[in-house]
Amino acid sequence: MLNPTSIDATAEQERLHVPAELDASLRARQAWISPKFLYDPLGSKLFEAICELPEYYPTRTEASVFAAFGGEIARTVGTGSTLIDLGAGNCAKAAGLFPLLHPAQYVPIDISAEFLQDAVARLQQRFRHIEMHPLGMDLSGPLNLPDTVRPERRLFFYPGSSIGNFTPDEARDFLQRVHAQCGHDGGLLIGIDLAKDHAVLDAAYDDALGVTAAFNLNVLNHVNRLLGADFDIRQWRHRGFYNADARRVEMHLEAKSAQLVSWRGGSRRFEAGEWIHTENSYKYRQSDAVGLLEQSGFAATKVWTDPQGWFAVIHARALSH
Ligand code: TRP
Repeated sequence: MLNPTSIDATAEQERLHVPAELDASLRARQAWISPKFLYDPLGSKLFEAICELPEYYPTRTEASVFAAFGGEIARTVGTGSTLIDLGAGNCAKAAGLFPLLHPAQYVPIDISAEFLQDAVARLQQRFRHIEMHPLGMDLSGPLNLPDTVRPERRLFFYPGSSIGNFTPDEARDFLQRVHAQCGHDGGLLIGIDLAKDHAVLDAAYDDALGVTAAFNLNVLNHVNRLLGADFDIRQWRHRGFYNADARRVEMHLEAKSAQLVSWRGGSRRFEAGEWIHTENSYKYRQSDAVGLLEQSGFAATKVWTDPQGWFAVIHARALSH
């Protein structure tokens, strides 16, 4: 495996692997598209818009927890850390913590390298004394950090309940990979969405304005570009709902009509009503979230939640191997 030392090297790696991966997932008996393809430049902007929606409570609720307990969180995690932001997006969440955490180095990691570079350029203007080192990386692959990332006091920041987009098994594997990068004094500050009433969840993932629908459908635009495919967006509709038995929100795209979709190297017929799975968003009970961290080599030091108990921010320190 190459070490992704620069955004360009990683982009090159991506170009080599993407077509085969997508081709296989579109041919699978139950077709699926990896959620990482949701975040092309437009997708990243649409996700920012989702975060502003009245129905999408996670971003706002998490922010309220950071606002209410910021001082306590800073005292718990300490200042001068190497802040490694997993799935940084526009870097706004981490930037909001800079005045409290005073990190020595900031390492935002995101699959959408272009989007990240713009965000970091702006951020560096505002915080000139923090060393910034953006990495364009696919977090579903190995977590190889280049030597330029300080080994001391690593604090992995994983907000937004992105952990919920893995299955619980994948989440444990991922957190174990994070743990392996923690050294003897590392830790994790993670935001995890908690299980709650299904009506709240259904609305959050299928909003009245249709922004979430646009975000989900946009993945087909991205696939069209990546694979030279001919998905007709108008022939698909967004589905997003809570599956209480599986404790997850499921996102799918449903074919409105029977159709043939072709791409470089392949094609598939979809029946009317057939689904392409795009993402899961698992919701945890607080005790299960703490258990997941323990299974991954971490010990939770503190859990902060909003008054309704909708969202948890957890600090955990890495236990030695
Ligand atoms: N990480 C987000 C979440 O699970 C992603 C997300 C929000 C999403 N709305 C979506 C993914 C709609 C696909 C479709 O909350």
